[in-house]
Amino acid sequence: MNQPQLIDRFQAKFGYAPTFIARAPGRVNLIGEHTDYNDGFVLPMAIDRAVTIIGAPRTDRNVRLDSANFDAINEFSLDQQPLETSIIHPWSNYVRGVADAMHKAGLTLTGFDGVLWGDIPISSGLSSSAATEMATTRAFAAAANQPVDGVQAAQLGQRAEIDFVGVNCGIMDQFISSLGKAGYALFIDCRSLAYDLVALPPGVTVLVVDTKAPRTLAGSAYNERVRECAAGAAALGLKSLRDVSVAEFERQRAKLPDLIARRCAHVVYENQRVLDAVQAARAGDAAVLGQLMNQSHDSLRDLYSVSSAELDAVVEIARAHPGVHGARMTGAGFGGCAIAMVETTHAAELHAVMARDYPARTGRTPSIYACVPSAGASWSPL
Ligand code: GLA
Repeated sequence: MNQPQLIDRFQAKFGYAPTFIARAPGRVNLIGEHTDYNDGFVLPMAIDRAVTIIGAPRTDRNVRLDSANFDAINEFSLDQQPLETSIIHPWSNYVRGVADAMHKAGLTLTGFDGVLWGDIPISSGLSSSAATEMATTRAFAAAANQPVDGVQAAQLGQRAEIDFVGVNCGIMDQFISSLGKAGYALFIDCRSLAYDLVALPPGVTVLVVDTKAPRTLAGSAYNERVRECAAGAAALGLKSLRDVSVAEFERQRAKLPDLIARRCAHVVYENQRVLDAVQAARAGDAAVLGQLMNQSHDSLRDLYSVSSAELDAVVEIARAHPGVHGARMTGAGFGGCAIAMVETTHAAELHAVMARDYPARTGRTPSIYACVPSAGASWSPL
């Protein structure tokens, strides 16, 4: 839905005119997977698909939400403490979770009416949930007419995800949705939360392929990986896996049970790959960046065990295509999306080949988009 349609919808649902628009994008991660909750490095970019909230402040402490995606209304009071999760309207939990986290952080909250709409495919690994959380932080800022701290907003979104949704996620998705910059990926240190802009090498396009495979078990397997990494770090006497170099890890790894050693190896090498990838991107070296992306995927598949037959199929089809520098799954895995970094001159051809060969291999119809590095969350008056 476009902005005029959303304004009309607000008017029809609530009977008056909205006063603000808040929005926050989804993301793809170029490299640095399952490193964020190990205090490590990531290199995501915000994409040109977003969650939008068209709203207006209320004089009371109620939040009334109309989801245009689910065509459903949900309402809660900011005075309800503790704020409950909704079983009937799970989509509202991202908003409730952010309200709860903002309340606990001592921030001022004003009730609002809002229409929510997103064009990020849901449950496909492009962070529609983080985008909803970040759009919510901007909607509350708009309703109270207060500035937002982009880093704090990301931290509050992460809290919402952990407390209200039950996924012990890192901060990458909320951070990039909050602070993304048009034209750039962000190199983020997930321990210090310092970040730096990194442009893609010239002449390449990032193509996203949604495998359309169901992502069952994603939450429980994700939390299991978080526990395995914590167990590995503890066995090595480390605060987190961020605190060990590749060489030191290799000297110590015999101390670990085989499964834990494989999980840890992925994280330790992946952190180094992110540092190398940032250098390659800055040198404009698409070939080296692509090789690192390939190594990242292979490690996620073989050591971290979070890929799937469909993700591997996308990656194999992409890698066999001329002009592709590298391809990998992106996000948590267990289904969802893979990305290919391809010479822009070959992007249309790869799109066509993927649309033909992926269904032949998997029986599923993919969605394929070229994505543009985009700006992070914002709000403005209407
Ligand atoms: C999900 C989580 C992130 C990150 C990725 C894997 O997207 O929300 O915090 O851990 O998986 O890199």
